[in-house]
Amino acid sequence: MGFPQHRPRRLRQNPAVRALVAQNELSARQLILPAFVREGLAEPNEITSMPGVYQHTMDSLKAAAAQAVTLGLGGIMLFGIPAERDENGSAGIDPQGILNRGIAAVRAEVGDDLVVMSDVCLDEFTSHGHCGVLDADGAVDNDATLAIYGQMAVAQAQAGAHMLGPSGMMDGQVGVIREALDAEGHLDTAILAYSAKYASAFYGPFREAVDSQLKGDRRTYQMDAANRREAILEAELDIAEGADMIMVKPAMSYLDIVRDVAEISPVPVSAYQISGEYSMIEAASANGWIDRRASVLESLLSIKRAGAEQILTYYAAEVAGWLKEGK
Ligand code: PBG
Repeated sequence: MGFPQHRPRRLRQNPAVRALVAQNELSARQLILPAFVREGLAEPNEITSMPGVYQHTMDSLKAAAAQAVTLGLGGIMLFGIPAERDENGSAGIDPQGILNRGIAAVRAEVGDDLVVMSDVCLDEFTSHGHCGVLDADGAVDNDATLAIYGQMAVAQAQAGAHMLGPSGMMDGQVGVIREALDAEGHLDTAILAYSAKYASAFYGPFREAVDSQLKGDRRTYQMDAANRREAILEAELDIAEGADMIMVKPAMSYLDIVRDVAEISPVPVSAYQISGEYSMIEAASANGWIDRRASVLESLLSIKRAGAEQILTYYAAEVAGWLKEGK
């Protein structure tokens, strides 16, 4: 008969005992809402492949940020969609560029009540859609890109971002950004490094979200889905270069990586439930194939359980609302 004294179902018999022994839970303070602001937009524009997610106008972005404060969210991660793009992504550096104006507007709205974060990457700003500038052969030039990231970081800090999210996967990006920030006196601007960022098919809907111009792929700079060990190296390098927090991305197909990185990291570990993860849940729920709310909560809890503390998710505001209602 085995061990009759071990009856794990005793601790599952009613909601009270289940709540008592639940090892992980979601909290609004650790959820980060990614948000898009688009230049020259008259009305918020719903992203077709991400129902319920919008390209914001400056006004609707400010409203989303204010709502995030009311809901007790931990942060907002801002992405900008410029009207004009060029080879070098210069709208990313321009203080009047859409992302930098968005940062300033959000910061003015929320002060220190919400951690204002911004994407340090060129893909939204380049005419070719790559995360860096290209060399004469059309390859992404790591070191030429780093110099631009440094300038972008300073512009974002000046605009008022509390925390910067370098997401381009250039080698040395965290160190260069830290130096550039310090040189301009932005000692308190933190870095949330996208350390283990994989080349993923699940970014698909994000390309629509930012009107990406990318033709090829990002396999020469983002990580290969086949690899596990390398995530530790990327995390260690970023920490050594000064990352205050690190991130694994995507989340759901990379929960082993979240766990690996969480085990070794001396700094907080975040994970990004990306666009395609959102769209899959939305599409299946819209068809009545899965229970939407239960799936959302389960997906986020699994990311927590894997070892991430903060979660970037397009569900952040909605989930915070559910948590508030005690549902
Ligand atoms: C790069 C960036 C991307 C995402 C966040 N930052 C796109 C990419 O690397 O292809 C994807 C986020 C998502 O899919 O939700 N600026």
